[in-house]
Amino acid sequence: MFKKIEKESFYYGFPVVLMTTKDIKSQEDNITVISSTWTLGKSIVIGLGLHNKGFLNLKVGSEATLNLASASIWENIERIAKTTGNPTIPDYKRQAGYKYCFDKFDLGGFTKMVGKEVQTVRIQECPIQIETIVNDITQRKKFAIVECEIKGIFVNKKNLYDDSHIDVDKWDPLIYKFREYTSTRHSLGTNFRFQEFKS
Ligand SMILES: Cc1cc2nc3c(=O)[nH]c(=O)nc-3n(C[C@H](O)[C@H](O)[C@H](O)COP(=O)(O)O)c2cc1C
Repeated sequence: MFKKIEKESFYYGFPVVLMTTKDIKSQEDNITVISSTWTLGKSIVIGLGLHNKGFLNLKVGSEATLNLASASIWENIERIAKTTGNPTIPDYKRQAGYKYCFDKFDLGGFTKMVGKEVQTVRIQECPIQIETIVNDITQRKKFAIVECEIKGIFVNKKNLYDDSHIDVDKWDPLIYKFREYTSTRHSLGTNFRFQEFKS
């Protein structure tokens, strides 16, 4: 038997990404915690709330770095989860207890690394960092769909087997599953097109 259920949102299990953007006027860096992303080839598509500072920065700028979070930093992420870099907090967020935060790097204990292919900073605590430029923004009523083009992928050497292969046993992505933080510790097997390293 199946039961039809109603949900406002349905986060059935997505990797957590710390998206860094830059305010092109003030040059201030911001972190937006996101999980609505998918990737195909050189593109990454992300879903963003219209009032998020990250989206406001992307609308007038054109670069974003997607820092992939590992399971070990979930508590740092939860420390910045109820904050926004947008000083004009919309009512629905204010009612939910969100506070303005000028420096989420400091609050979450994240370390900035300079960008290589783009101006947006990378986050040292994230073993995989993807630098992108924005190619297209489709604005809907409540959110925007942003298509980013990958310009550079940077992987911490500790997570690499050799110069081009990721040691998958050393990469433990943080997964957001129905608003619970979880990890992918248990391997079931690999796909027939598996191309990385596994001991
Ligand atoms: C684990 C997690 C995943 C989230 N995923 C998204 C998302 O995919 N898109 C989005 O717009 N907001 C998402 N949020 C909410 C934003 O992080 C939140 O609105 C935040 O205030 C945005 O920060 P900013 O205004 O500084 O950009 C997520 C929050 C958490 C904790």
